[in-house]
Amino acid sequence: MEIMADKNEWGSNMSFILAMIGSAVGLGNIWRYPYVLYSNGGGAFYIPYIVAILLMGIPFLILEYGVGYNFKSSFAKAITKINSKWQYLGWLLPVAVFMIMIYYSAILGWDGIYMVLSFFKGWGADPNTYFTANLLQASSSYTGLTNFIPVIAVAMLIGWVIVWFISHRDLEAGLGKVSKILVPALFIIMIIIVGFSLTLPGASIGLAELFDPDWSLLTHFEIWMAAFGQIVFSLSLGMSIAFTYASYTKDDADLVTNTISIALANSLFENFAALGVFSILGYMSLQSGTAVADLVTQGTGLVFIVYPTVFNVLGQWAYILGPLFFLTVYLAGLTSILSTIEPLSFSIQNKFGLSRSRTMTILIVVGAAISMVYATSFGGDLLGYVDTFINQIALLLGVILECIIFAWIFKAERLIDFLNSRSKTIKLGSWWLVVVKYILPIFIAIIWIGGLIDVINAGTVDQLVFTAISAAILLVATLIFTILPAKNPEWENTEERV
Ligand code: PHE
Repeated sequence: MEIMADKNEWGSNMSFILAMIGSAVGLGNIWRYPYVLYSNGGGAFYIPYIVAILLMGIPFLILEYGVGYNFKSSFAKAITKINSKWQYLGWLLPVAVFMIMIYYSAILGWDGIYMVLSFFKGWGADPNTYFTANLLQASSSYTGLTNFIPVIAVAMLIGWVIVWFISHRDLEAGLGKVSKILVPALFIIMIIIVGFSLTLPGASIGLAELFDPDWSLLTHFEIWMAAFGQIVFSLSLGMSIAFTYASYTKDDADLVTNTISIALANSLFENFAALGVFSILGYMSLQSGTAVADLVTQGTGLVFIVYPTVFNVLGQWAYILGPLFFLTVYLAGLTSILSTIEPLSFSIQNKFGLSRSRTMTILIVVGAAISMVYATSFGGDLLGYVDTFINQIALLLGVILECIIFAWIFKAERLIDFLNSRSKTIKLGSWWLVVVKYILPIFIAIIWIGGLIDVINAGTVDQLVFTAISAAILLVATLIFTILPAKNPEWENTEERV
């Protein structure tokens, strides 16, 4: 079966930019960034943060876009074309990103449940107990895998159906169109929430805590690692997503300028989120007399425990702010999860000659089935282990390998004239080559080693066991895609645009 190019092509540059912003702006911007900013020097964090964006985020995205654009084909196909011995690496990142999709669906499911609960503060007087004991029925032992929680399963399946509804269509009719509606909607709702939060009594207490700069931290290595780590995660760098999205573009894109718009929008959103989160924490601190430092947290604790606690003291306003907040998290998660299926789906379409629609249906059914392990009492802990493995170990390694393959073997030099001829803003020069060839791989390798040491030192036996199982699943699934024979005669035939 021949793949029709137009099924995998953006209708306009706007669709490409908005879909990419949708992928970048996710849970990381809402529940991770505010905490990272706060706990790494407050106002002083902006120095490593801006350096990380300029030195890594933008140069690396330009590279990933440039190579993706050049090949106009999937990640696995392009890597195979660069050197057929590395086909395995071409599947590794798409499979790892698909593993993210599977656990992201659980977080979306929990958030969907909270969206409903927020209309009547259904989490009760003690949100902590509600989340861990009532909803997740959390058990820290793997025997919890046998305790299935139907409410979570149903909420997750609703998410999978929404994803299927959007993703099985042609690219522009599904993801392109949805991004053009949901991404602006996400920004508008966020502006409303933050605007309201800033008017709350006590907001200034929270903001003063957040920004209070601790300049002495600038000499600490950790805050630089935190800034680089945040940018890799937040911009979805080196995950083969940016690559795939760029390969879907038409022939006339200004990739350099697009990159700058995407990085700006992502930073704007996360800094805005930080204002909202800390205004609300300031309000809570004023009401409860608890110090902001004792309230602040990140991840599921912030969204599903601290926020419901705040809504409990917020009175009537909570019935508006609560649903809007959980809706924002849902939309941010949805526009990100939609991007996590694209690299693997496109690679499968290319190798096995299946249509976009059929590939998506198969992947979504398989993903939904596997995701049911998260609808058990062990789901919460398992999600934490898999997330740490994928983000701290697998993806960063992927980024380093991608950097080496693209910058050194493909040769980043090849892209410069072409990218510059389209660029209406900055022009690339030898500074860009130095960044992508030397500074980036070295920096990310340092972060990677730091993360690995963390997992080994801090990990419990359970964590190490489940890290090993996740690694085995990733490596075996990747191997299967690599050795299955290609069904599409076009697999070996990759055109290049540059
Ligand atoms: N960039 C997203 C965020 O900030 C996370 C993400 C990672 C999305 C990987 C897609 C793939 O939350």
